[in-house]
Amino acid sequence: MTDTQKGLSRNVANYGDRDFALYLRRSFAASMGYSRKALQKPVVGIADTASDYNNCHRSVPELKEAVKRGVLAAGALPLAFPTVSLCEPSLTPTSMHYRNLMALDTEAMLSAQPMDAAVLIGGCDKTVPAQLMAAASADVPSVMLVTGPMLAQRFEGERLAACTDCRRYWARYRAGDVSEQRIGEIEGKLATTSGTCGVMGTASTMACLAATLGFMPLMAASAPAVHSDRLRMAEEAGELAVRLITHPVKPSQLITEKSVENALRVLLSLGGSTNALVHLTAIAGRAGVKVDLRRLDALSEETPVLVDLKPTGEGYMEDFHAAGGMVALLRELRDLLHLDTIDLYGRTLAEQIDAGTPFVDRAIIRARNAPISPVGGLVSLFGSLAPDGAILKRSAATPALFETEARCVVFDGLADLADRIDAEDLDVTPQDILILKNVGPLTPAGMPEAGYLPIPKKLARAGVKDMVRMSDCRMSGTAFGTIVLHITPEAAAGGPLGLVETGDRVRLSVKERRLDLLVEEAELARRRAAWAPPPRPRRGWDRLVYDQVLQATEGADLAFLRPDGE
Ligand code: FES
Repeated sequence: MTDTQKGLSRNVANYGDRDFALYLRRSFAASMGYSRKALQKPVVGIADTASDYNNCHRSVPELKEAVKRGVLAAGALPLAFPTVSLCEPSLTPTSMHYRNLMALDTEAMLSAQPMDAAVLIGGCDKTVPAQLMAAASADVPSVMLVTGPMLAQRFEGERLAACTDCRRYWARYRAGDVSEQRIGEIEGKLATTSGTCGVMGTASTMACLAATLGFMPLMAASAPAVHSDRLRMAEEAGELAVRLITHPVKPSQLITEKSVENALRVLLSLGGSTNALVHLTAIAGRAGVKVDLRRLDALSEETPVLVDLKPTGEGYMEDFHAAGGMVALLRELRDLLHLDTIDLYGRTLAEQIDAGTPFVDRAIIRARNAPISPVGGLVSLFGSLAPDGAILKRSAATPALFETEARCVVFDGLADLADRIDAEDLDVTPQDILILKNVGPLTPAGMPEAGYLPIPKKLARAGVKDMVRMSDCRMSGTAFGTIVLHITPEAAAGGPLGLVETGDRVRLSVKERRLDLLVEEAELARRRAAWAPPPRPRRGWDRLVYDQVLQATEGADLAFLRPDGE
């Protein structure tokens, strides 16, 4: 028998007899009804993330069928396989805790099963990062296919979609503006179609970054989940995967210093999710490319926010798509981009932009000379409270709070927050800074999206809409407020955040990019001597995370999954 190392001949099981292994594989595959002719074709693996726990992936079955159609039409054999699937609200302690598990699972299946190329079907927040991390590590030519955003729906004169509107209504409910009955009615109106959150949250931001990196055609980042274009894009993804077999473009060719910098520019101009920064850092890290927060800050000073979508603006993802989507945005950013990066077709970014439609709706995608903000959506902060950095989404924050020095009110983890935040006797004023610690990647909390600390109920009822809030965790890409995130090193890793106590004074200066704890060193030394790390989990995934997880500034990846394996 000949060994072509293609299709089913790749990655044979090891019985010590390669020909027997292939014989066995073919005969078992034949039991599924495949003809010998079909089994001789090149193979496209399809990562199938349909799950009854994942509403954002409700459309995966029909996308998978469309991908298969494209693969078959192009002359290869499509073989779908299941992987871990993560839906943001469906997991405890948080889906972030399992992003690296999904990446590990997907990488292992891409590497171990016979396939010449792959289509990765993802969508919800952590799935696209996990799949791109996996693709980067396995370095198998892979097309990213996202499920696409849900449509916003009209309800009594306004448009609603997850999840900025969920948060907006919940904040009004907490403040007593919205009744129990009304919040119950709204619950059924926030997410009414298949697809990912309909705003520029983490899922949408990651789709735009994946397209910028070249893993999908530009307009495939934003086509609505329920649009027939989405199915045609799935069919094209199948065809493209087959093309990659004869014209390979590997993830290692797509994820480069230049393409990652382009992705950072796009993140900034979208006013995109802070989570995307952690994910992009992890994806780039798998390819040996470092994301530097100081460089991000420099880029932010010269990259305008151009896209008017919630949570920083008004529109929804369907508006972005109809307005010209990524083609229109990149055309506007053209002189700031590295135009010689490539996509899976081998086209340069310049060629991709030029091939797109020239239409743009300026109500959603602004011109460079009329930006929503002349500077980017994110800033990085450094100082005695965040020696390795922290992030603030200034495009979703209150400028009047950018220069704040105040007393802080500290919550020592999620349970403490839940116990005390709404207590009538909580000693807090609107001028205070709320701090949540011990919720970073190393903790059992797993770096949840808890950085959007609720405004204490008694202040919310008094009309307070925003306060400075800080933590070592994340916030949803759909959230808003003057919120400092990803403080590094985290409290549980021995960072200064772990030493902060209620009553300390903290200074935030967006102008100076500073975040400082104004406490004498002698007092900090006393507290440090009494500090202890959290206990090591006894077994399983939690134990592996505890032993291996890196800090937010390194993408919160597991150390042993990075190229250097350390
Ligand atoms: Fe899946 Fe928002 S919950 S994208």
